[in-house]
Amino acid sequence: MALSLVKNAQDRLSTDHFGRPMRGVEEVGSTNERAAQWAAKGAPEGATVLTEYQTTGRGRHGREWTAEKGRNLLFSVVLRPGLSPDRFGLLTVAAGVAVAEAVEAVVSPHSALLKWPNDVLLEDRKTCGILLESSLAPPDADAVVVLGVGLNVNQSDFPASLADTATSLRLAAGRPVPRPPLLAQLLQSLERRYEAVHTGDAASVRAAFRTRLASLGATRTLHAPGTDEALTGTVQGITETGALRLRTADGTVTEVHAGDVTSQN
Ligand code: BTN
Repeated sequence: MALSLVKNAQDRLSTDHFGRPMRGVEEVGSTNERAAQWAAKGAPEGATVLTEYQTTGRGRHGREWTAEKGRNLLFSVVLRPGLSPDRFGLLTVAAGVAVAEAVEAVVSPHSALLKWPNDVLLEDRKTCGILLESSLAPPDADAVVVLGVGLNVNQSDFPASLADTATSLRLAAGRPVPRPPLLAQLLQSLERRYEAVHTGDAASVRAAFRTRLASLGATRTLHAPGTDEALTGTVQGITETGALRLRTADGTVTEVHAGDVTSQN
């Protein structure tokens, strides 16, 4: 099934690099891990690994990512951004914008919004998670970055732990969604927004992010990963490099580079 999905998407692909080449594997631990292994053996920028099922799918901050077999889009793209690592946050933001745009084209008139840094939300529920992992620690500017996308497409049932927070394109659109054209569109959209960051047009990416930022102007609490630390403030937008700007009660504007927006006041 993975191979026919790849073949059908390739027939529709209009990218220069993303999805070229693209490998489909029926089952894998994590596509991010498999793509990093491929990159270490010389996979070019844009090389993509797609699977129908992950046994150890990875989420942000060491969490797991689970998705029903054969119903979703689970893939990772090899990037060789040649950017300073302090700008990797922009890649995260660009990926969120790109996925939201491709998703919205399918579920219109529903809007696809973003929860910083790059969760894609439909009707206030998460439909896509994005994980960027860098294989070399900063400050190595030649790092390989793997961009992993887990998009809930045709899954209609979620485990109890996700039942109140997760959704899929099928649930939002009220009909099954064909995956091959969506995959081709996602790769096109990801490549376009990635190129914008590269060619110095990150401003357009930041502006597109801001218009989709679900919490803009609202009060939110951010939890620092792996700690009990939390910061509450009004969401002001993002910085030049993609960090979240929060104005706290004393009027200070703080830049947050990592964390989860986990609660709402
Ligand atoms: C998140 O925590 O929101 C990020 C989830 C990212 C999941 C995708 S699925 C494809 C790729 N491979 C992985 O192991 N994770 C990413």
